[in-house]
Amino acid sequence: MADNRITQLFGIQYPIVQGGMIWTSGWRLASAVSNAGGLGLLGAGSMYPNVLKEHIDKCRKATDKPFGVNIPMLYPNIDEVMDIVVKSGVKIVFTSAGNPKTWTTFLKEIDITVVHVVSSVKFALKAQEAGVDAVVAEGFEAGGHNGRDETTTMVLIPSVKEKIDIPLIAAGGIATGQAMLAAMVLGADGVQVGSRFAASHEGSAHSTFKEQIILAKEGDTHLTLKELAPVRLLKNKFYQNVQQAYANGATIEVLKSLLGRGRAKKGMFEGNLEEGELEIGQVSGLINEIKPAGQIVKDLVEEFGRAKSAVNRL
Ligand SMILES: Cc1cc2nc3c(=O)[nH]c(=O)nc-3n(C[C@H](O)[C@H](O)[C@H](O)COP(=O)(O)O)c2cc1C
Repeated sequence: MADNRITQLFGIQYPIVQGGMIWTSGWRLASAVSNAGGLGLLGAGSMYPNVLKEHIDKCRKATDKPFGVNIPMLYPNIDEVMDIVVKSGVKIVFTSAGNPKTWTTFLKEIDITVVHVVSSVKFALKAQEAGVDAVVAEGFEAGGHNGRDETTTMVLIPSVKEKIDIPLIAAGGIATGQAMLAAMVLGADGVQVGSRFAASHEGSAHSTFKEQIILAKEGDTHLTLKELAPVRLLKNKFYQNVQQAYANGATIEVLKSLLGRGRAKKGMFEGNLEEGELEIGQVSGLINEIKPAGQIVKDLVEEFGRAKSAVNRL
């Protein structure tokens, strides 16, 4: 795989980013991906500032390669989280779920590479205007929180590509080298992969959640709770309760109290498959094995190469 704008931006071997994922991407996963030649990201969204500090320190001990921190701006304590990131000398920050203007200038002034995650052309342009170094454009298929517009990766990537000049990373539905090639043919300079890495040995999610990812079939996820923060979930008991609440005409307040606090931790980290929230992408239907993260990177690269040769024969 040749060097390009993304490998150069981060100083990595392959243009493969392991998406930051709450309760899933701690130092073990991030360092394994970075050691394999991709870019590992710590998911700060589920970490108290002192826990994040610990993960940064451990990640640095486990790899001498570049790694970064993903900071979803919808969670509390962002000032404290940024403070830890800066004081720990982190060089790459991915922000998501918020306004790219809020932190980009501050981070860029201290020489941090900033990437913002978007789900529409409108926000890609906003991120570019805010001065980020690259955007992740995340399609409707993706696991976790997402936009309301339901634009799929297949449509989003060329649409964003047409409008922005800075490097573009595609996310949503990418778990194989074939999908990676497709995204790059559509105009992406690299890919961000989430669900595939959630089902890795090094991922910190509970083993029962990882097993559910393996069991999931096409059609087993749904983007819901759009009135609060749209999120793609596996259709478990908690999801069914949310659907029942909708059928009963639930108000936002009712939905908020149904979601309550700690649902994601309960589901993904503690393995409570009934009452917890299980965030995962549509592509879980194509994931059939829990693998070491380094193997996932290797497979993506090899499949990419094979797919490229197969396309040449068309
Ligand atoms: C369990 C899980 C948790 C996630 N948490 C975050 C997060 O904290 N911040 C974020 O920006 N994206 C989050 N995402 C999105 C991923 O970083 C990534 O963009 C997405 O998973 C890509 O789509 P895919 O799942 O189809 O690979 C999460 C995804 C999953 C599956």
